[in-house]
Amino acid sequence: MKAIFSGIQPSGDLHIGNYIGAIQQWVSLQNQESHRFIFSIVDLHAITVYQDPEILSKRTLEVTAIYLASGIDPKKSIIFVQSDNPDHTYCAWVLNCVTNFGWLTRMTQFKDKSLKQGRANTSAGLFNYPVLMAADILLYDTDLVPVGEDQIQHVELTRDIAKKFNQVYKPIFKVPEALIDKKSARIMSLQNPLSKMSKSEVDPKAKINLTDSDSEIVEKIRKAVTDSGNEIIYDPKAKPAISNLLVIFSKFSGRSISDLQDYYKGKKYSEFKEDLAEVVVENIRPIRERYFELIDNKDYLIDLLKKGAEKAFEISHKKVLEINSAVGLGI
Ligand code: AMP
Ligand code: TRP
Repeated sequence: MKAIFSGIQPSGDLHIGNYIGAIQQWVSLQNQESHRFIFSIVDLHAITVYQDPEILSKRTLEVTAIYLASGIDPKKSIIFVQSDNPDHTYCAWVLNCVTNFGWLTRMTQFKDKSLKQGRANTSAGLFNYPVLMAADILLYDTDLVPVGEDQIQHVELTRDIAKKFNQVYKPIFKVPEALIDKKSARIMSLQNPLSKMSKSEVDPKAKINLTDSDSEIVEKIRKAVTDSGNEIIYDPKAKPAISNLLVIFSKFSGRSISDLQDYYKGKKYSEFKEDLAEVVVENIRPIRERYFELIDNKDYLIDLLKKGAEKAFEISHKKVLEINSAVGLGI
């Protein structure tokens, strides 16, 4: 049985980049019955930069509700909160001890984030973040990790850590692979098509959240920047803004990019944007409506997460016992 593992940090409102780059892939994979699916809400990753404690636990439930509202089915997938399973931090410690310091200094996400915050103010947790991610993945004998492009380097590092452990101790870890949909792995900001759409966006117009109202979505697409010229073609170098909108259109409509290019040949940006807004609205609306029903039912969400954590622990703890025996920990 193949195992699929992925996770999202409860560090902000989820947007269509998270949906297209990650969650939408998870949902379509989920129909493969021969696979085991594990999706986590990775709160221990979120606290590598300060999170307001009250907001963090609220967001953990919100991300859970978004998973379910988007179509992650708790009958098919294990859904749990990372901090509910103590094996993750335990395994991360052991993996830290086989991870070369130099590997971590080369992580681009760490370099970017620590530069922004200033090195002196950066937590050691942020530096070790990819090792915790490796623990998440390796504890479940994961084969595939469906993520957006920004996480490829972390999955590569996970492979290096697994291989080194296997070589130094015993070959107990499966070496996983990232699963990426090239075109949609990096949805760009609606206000600056050269920068990734991200949870920490300051300009609300730059991203569409999965809980945005119909009118907010329409307004954000209307105000999205476009490129010079008037052709609607996919060419990320020459036309980064239109290419990004085409990818979003394609992912929400199921129509191919070449089909969309043909259809909009000779048509205006304004007409294209109007149709795009309609498609996004129609797709987000059911997610938003289910989300608001679910978020009102906290007991259900908490119960589901507790059961998910038990199932996750059942799997991960077998691996922890293997780790202990391989390394010679305990007696
Ligand atoms: P994060 O928001 O960093 O917790 O990311 C959660 C998941 O969404 C990861 O798999 C990311 O790679 C993916 N993701 C985040 N932002 C984008 C984006 N702009 N385009 C595509 N995927 C994204
Ligand atoms: N680092 C990932 C992100 O920010 C989240 C994450 C944590 C993750 N552990 C994971 C993703 C394990 C996939 C597998 O997007």
